[in-house]
This record gives sequence, structure tokens and C-alpha cells, in this order.
Amino acid sequence: MNPPVAGSRTALAERIAAATAQLAAAGVASPRADAEQLAAFVLGLGRARLLLVDELPGPAAVRFDTLVRRRADREPLQHLTGVAGFRYLDLAVGPGVFVPRPETESVVGWAIDALRAATVATTAPGPVCVDLCAGSGAIALSLAGEIPGAQVHAVEGDPAALGWLRRNVRSTGLPVEVHAADVTAAPPSSLARLEGAVDLVVSNPPYLPDADRATVEPEVGVHDPAAALWGGPDGLQIVRAVVRLAARLLRPGGLLVVEHADGHGASAPALLRADGRWQDVADHPDLGGRDRFVTGRMARPGEGEHG
Ligand SMILES: C[S@@+](CC[C@H](N)C(=O)[O-])C[C@H]1O[C@@H](n2cnc3c(N)ncnc32)[C@H](O)[C@@H]1O
Repeated sequence: MNPPVAGSRTALAERIAAATAQLAAAGVASPRADAEQLAAFVLGLGRARLLLVDELPGPAAVRFDTLVRRRADREPLQHLTGVAGFRYLDLAVGPGVFVPRPETESVVGWAIDALRAATVATTAPGPVCVDLCAGSGAIALSLAGEIPGAQVHAVEGDPAALGWLRRNVRSTGLPVEVHAADVTAAPPSSLARLEGAVDLVVSNPPYLPDADRATVEPEVGVHDPAAALWGGPDGLQIVRAVVRLAARLLRPGGLLVVEHADGHGASAPALLRADGRWQDVADHPDLGGRDRFVTGRMARPGEGEHG
């Protein structure tokens, strides 16, 4: 098949087929889906409605070709469209903030289910939840949107990510309090007032071992911010800080949920068990069956030392 001429009015199916081939040749993991999403984006339609369109008008075709070229250069799809879907939300994303991932949706799902099932009544008017390393706000905003009455706090240390976080809080209108803070340092006064009063801490911290720098895909290594990715030699540097801070914030019986690398299925739970203050420590897989997140409950007075 001859490639469609740039800017000309062409059958949509033909353009999508050519773009799919171009993206596949560039090593894009889901070339057809990405080509369709970019076509839908330039047409201002949902992807399912592409079926109703026969042709890509000239100006849209030019825009489509440019975006396909950028995607072939391995810019993340979500940077090109400016939006990342996460659970029930569409979040603004772009350079400077981590693109939320589908595996984190299951982490949030577990946290919401566990909070709903908690036998001990949470504080009135709703549970106090803290998202450490909040990035775009995917976790914090989902908790605020899905748990009625939740008082949600989002903690983020990177100025660029904080800009995206504040933008998403504003645009969704969901009640999330933003804290500019480093989770490895002493909590600022705005967080210190929550010590011992939090029902749920969730975190998706940077957790890739430094050695992975050579092997990550360009969408990750070039376009996700370094501060969102690297967790030191074993990948657990920030996870340790998150667990320490969570232990200060949670009330007895409060829940901790921390996402981790697929190689941390044993070491992340071991970290909680070694601390001695966590009960019911367990590790959980993502939908692909890879070890993905660890959970624990802060011991109540009189409970055994180890979970
Ligand atoms: C993997 S991203 C996760 C973002 C978001 N929670 C999500 O799931 O999409 C990790 C985030 O932690 C932030 N971060 C890294 N180190 C931090 C620290 N010491 N204190 C606070 N935030 C930090 C990064 O800037 C980044 O936004």
C-alpha cells in the first residue's frame, strides 16, 4: 500500500493502517490502539466513534501525521493528547509529571475495598486518607471521588509535579488538600497535625532499582520525570521513607498500601515485618500476575509485635 499523502483528504482506515505500521516499526507496544487514539483525538471524538467516520479532513490529517511522528519518536501517547484516564477520572498530564499506570488502579481498588470493609468505624465525618508521592493526583483524587466524605491529603515534593497536581485538583473540583513536602524529611506542620489520626496511607513512590536505567523504554526513561522513577540501588530507598512516615501518620488499626517493583514481592513485605509495628502484612499481584503492592495494618495496643 502507498503511504497516504501528507495533508490530503484520505480514507481514515488507510491512514490508521499506515500509522499502525509506522508505530510498530518504531517499537511502540500497542501501535493500532495508539494510532486509533490519535485519530480520535484529532477528530475530537471518542475512540469508539471512529467507526462512524470515513475520511480524515486535510487539517486533521496534517495534525494526525505530526502526532504519529512524535509517537514514533516514543513520546508517551498521554503527553500527545494531554490526558491520562485513571479509574473514573481524566487527568491532565504532560512533561514534568508521571503518567499514571493501569496497575496503580488495582492498588487504589484494593485500598477502597479494604476501607469499606474495615470493621472498626473510621473517624467522622469520613476516613482520613493520605497519598504520599502524589504526582498527578491519580490516587488522591480517586479516593476523594470514590469514598464519600473522605478527607484526602496529597503529598508531593517535586515542583513541576505539584503544578500538575494542583491543576487536576482544581479541574476535578474534588476535595483534596495538597501538601508540598519531601517524604524523606520530617513532616511539615500541615502534616504533623495528622500524626496518629490517619485511616489510610496509599503510596506509589519511585521504586525502580537504579540498575534498570539502561533497560527502561524511552517513554519511561526519557519522558517520565527521574524523581518519579528511581529508588536507589535496591529500589526501596523511598519505599522505606514512606513506610516510616506512614507509621507516624496512621492511627492504630490504620491501613498502609504501597506499590512496588515486581522484583520486590519478598523484600517489601520483609521491610514491614522487620519494623515490628505492622499486622496482617501481605503482598498482592497486579492484573498481569506480577507482585505489585504490599499492605499492612498499624498494630493496635496489645497486638503482637509481628504481622
Ligand atoms: C511513581 S510517581 C507516582 C505518582 C502518582 N502517585 C501515580 O501513581 O501516578 C512518584 C511521585 O513521587 C514523587 N516523589 C519522589 N520522591 C519524593 C519525595 N522524597 N517526597 C515527595 N514526593 C516524592 C515524584 O515527584 C513523583 O511525582
